[in-house]
Amino acid sequence: MGLLGAFFVSFAVVVNGFHVPHANIKRQVSQLRSSYDFVIVGGGTSGLTVADRLTEAFPSKNVLVVEYGDVKQFTPGTFDPPTTWANPLHPEYAPFFVFFPIPSPDVKNKTGFVGAGQTVGGSSATNGQFFDRGSRYDYDSWAEAAGPGYEAWNWRGLFPYFKKSVTFHPPSAALVQKHGYTWDISAYGGSTPIHASFPPFQWEDREILWNTWKDLGLKPSRECAAGEKEGICFVPTSQHPVTAKRSHAGLAHYADVVASRPNYDLLVRHQGIRVIYPNGLQSGPPTVEVKSLLDSHVFNITATAEVVLAAGSLHTPTILQRSGIGPAGFLQSAGIPVVLDLPGVGSNLHDHSGPFAVTWNYTNPGNFSEIPERMDTDPAYLADSIAGFSENPARGPYTLGLANTAIYVSLPKLAPNHQAIVNRIRQIANDGSASSYLPAEYRTNPDMIRGYKAQLLAIANKLANPKAPSLETPWATGTSLQAFLLHPLSRGTVRLNLNDHLAQPILDYRTGSNPVDFDIHLAHVKFLRQLVNTPTMQQYGAVEVAPGPGVQSDADLVEFIKDQMTVSFQHPSGTAALLPKNKGGVVGPGLKVHDTAGLRVVDMSILSVNIGGHLSSTAYAVGEKAAAIIIEEWTVTGKGKGKAKAKARR
Ligand SMILES: Cc1cc2nc3c(=O)[nH]c(=O)nc-3n(C[C@H](O)[C@H](O)[C@H](O)COP(=O)(O)OP(=O)(O)OC[C@H]3O[C@@H](n4cnc5c(N)ncnc54)[C@H](O)[C@@H]3O)c2cc1C
Ligand SMILES: *[C@@H]1O[C@H](CO)[C@@H](O)[C@H](O)[C@H]1NC(C)=O
Ligand SMILES: *[C@@H]1O[C@H](CO)[C@@H](O)[C@H](O)[C@H]1NC(C)=O
Ligand SMILES: *[C@@H]1O[C@H](CO)[C@@H](O)[C@H](O)[C@H]1NC(C)=O
Ligand SMILES: *[C@@H]1O[C@H](CO)[C@@H](O)[C@H](O)[C@H]1NC(C)=O
Repeated sequence: MGLLGAFFVSFAVVVNGFHVPHANIKRQVSQLRSSYDFVIVGGGTSGLTVADRLTEAFPSKNVLVVEYGDVKQFTPGTFDPPTTWANPLHPEYAPFFVFFPIPSPDVKNKTGFVGAGQTVGGSSATNGQFFDRGSRYDYDSWAEAAGPGYEAWNWRGLFPYFKKSVTFHPPSAALVQKHGYTWDISAYGGSTPIHASFPPFQWEDREILWNTWKDLGLKPSRECAAGEKEGICFVPTSQHPVTAKRSHAGLAHYADVVASRPNYDLLVRHQGIRVIYPNGLQSGPPTVEVKSLLDSHVFNITATAEVVLAAGSLHTPTILQRSGIGPAGFLQSAGIPVVLDLPGVGSNLHDHSGPFAVTWNYTNPGNFSEIPERMDTDPAYLADSIAGFSENPARGPYTLGLANTAIYVSLPKLAPNHQAIVNRIRQIANDGSASSYLPAEYRTNPDMIRGYKAQLLAIANKLANPKAPSLETPWATGTSLQAFLLHPLSRGTVRLNLNDHLAQPILDYRTGSNPVDFDIHLAHVKFLRQLVNTPTMQQYGAVEVAPGPGVQSDADLVEFIKDQMTVSFQHPSGTAALLPKNKGGVVGPGLKVHDTAGLRVVDMSILSVNIGGHLSSTAYAVGEKAAAIIIEEWTVTGKGKGKAKAKARR
């Protein structure tokens, strides 16, 4: 309980009213200072990273983080013991915002769970702890889609911040011997207490798939976090190497540092409503209007230096839309005066999606000494697993997160028709038809169309690259696999609820609205279903259950894909994209909202195109880079010049 214990103590002390000068959790306006230098809206993965770095760099500048959720005692991992979870509805359990997007007609009107962390630490406190990075080609494609002026957002520009954002703990020699873990320490090197480590436990049958992939020609990669990740990867878990307790931003970037930061305030249970420019968009920073979720009191907070939005991909656009910054047509329909027509706000929504691609049975016995079913059938084993998790060091199955292994396969390596798919995307980008795949309100907007074409071309280049993965399939155990589509072409929207602008927004995922996504899904499923025929699988008598022998034609497989589709892998992105204004972008290379002063976005909203990986490590790295940009502007040049320089940069 070491880390979590420390986190809880600082919270308990404050609510009990003891005089603890550095435990700065605030719950009402009367506890705030009259103004702050920096106000950060959203105390999640990226927001707390920025808050930590700013309070560290500027001891004489005050920083306030406004967070919707609360400080929670429990932030269990995806696969922590039932005793830890107790009751997910228990108020001490870190909760989610829960969304079900409106049905997507191109995938049989499917919807599905989309979550977002609603607690100090944000989604890093509630996610699956799968701690990979995208490939270098993913970040290079951000710079490519955006064009001149955005070069600093390529892999070279981000890699130092990936390194800084995390502490990697190499596994012991005994664990390497047992599980074969590999890594390259040069991918790491930071000392931030966001931990990346490999657990002491793996299920025995994990090895079968590892060998199956080798049969299919994939190559194990020693380290997948250093830019290249095509092949079979070991992926660390974001947890402490000894206690196996979750690592998250609420610990590393708040609880662990706040004692030495009298300039670091955290206001919990408050909703950032909107930003207001009483004297025009260039008079910034804006005022921040906030609502208490405890007593509904609405008040303004003054920022003297900057306002930083970090409420995540599903909420940052709601704050901008309520501020009158967004698509003018939509704002008018919502009765919100248009302050700035920025059509990209809440547009360009994309997420990883994919079907449960293949399921099989083993018909021969295997040497599986420990399989998950033992948790159900062997009460002594379950009891020992629960006990082992709270030992120090922790041991047993519950030390596992989501998984520690995945394959990442490029389209050229998995699809004989890869060139045809790439050509089709390039044709759509060039023949004038791209606009027809966008949400109706963008089909006549030249900036949005230009930006979508730039994204399509950047994605086509990735899909043509034999080193840039298109498919991800993670696994830990079992006989069923999902096929993540890493580079979706379909685009959706996040819009305020017209009946209540402060309620949760409406998500329109539009999954599969660009039909080329199905060409790619089809190639992924055809590749994955080959697995049952490999020598390794045949040794265990593997028999395909799904798609099943009756599903062979492309048309039948596409039906199967639509039936099995999971619309979200919890990676919504792109709703305040890092693109120039004439490409429908919302933020420029300094992460400033176009045509405004003193306002930035630093969270996963900025992803113009998605990455070939899960998002949390990227959220930390973007937070680190954003902080470095802000610190440089306010250090080197001082306040007034900082503004001048920011303008020059735009
Ligand atoms: C269920 C789930 C599983 C996931 N699994 C993984 C995984 O295994 N590996 C991985 O790498 N990634 C995973 N992710 C994705 C990853 O965790 C997120 O993409 C990333 O953490 C997002 O960071 P962020 O800074 O953009 O937003 P967040 O970390 O979500 O932070 C946003 C914060 O803003 C707050 N907020 C929202 N609206 C307001 C408002 N109006 N005013 C004030 N505060 C507000 C929220 O409460 C939250 O604390 C998962 C995500 C989810 C939801
Ligand atoms: C999807 O929903 C729409 C609107 O309700 C309906 O017209 C359509 O038939 C549905 N499609 C399917 C495949 O169910
Ligand atoms: C916040 O400031 C704006 C602009 O000055 C003003 O219009 C608004 O009424 C203020 N809100 C509150 C609750 O004081
Ligand atoms: C189990 O392991 C033994 C010893 O390594 C081996 O001889 C046997 O073939 C294995 N059985 C199966 C079903 O894999
Ligand atoms: C696979 O296993 C399940 C459960 O054991 C069984 O119901 C099913 O008939 C099996 N299918 C095949 C194709 O063997």
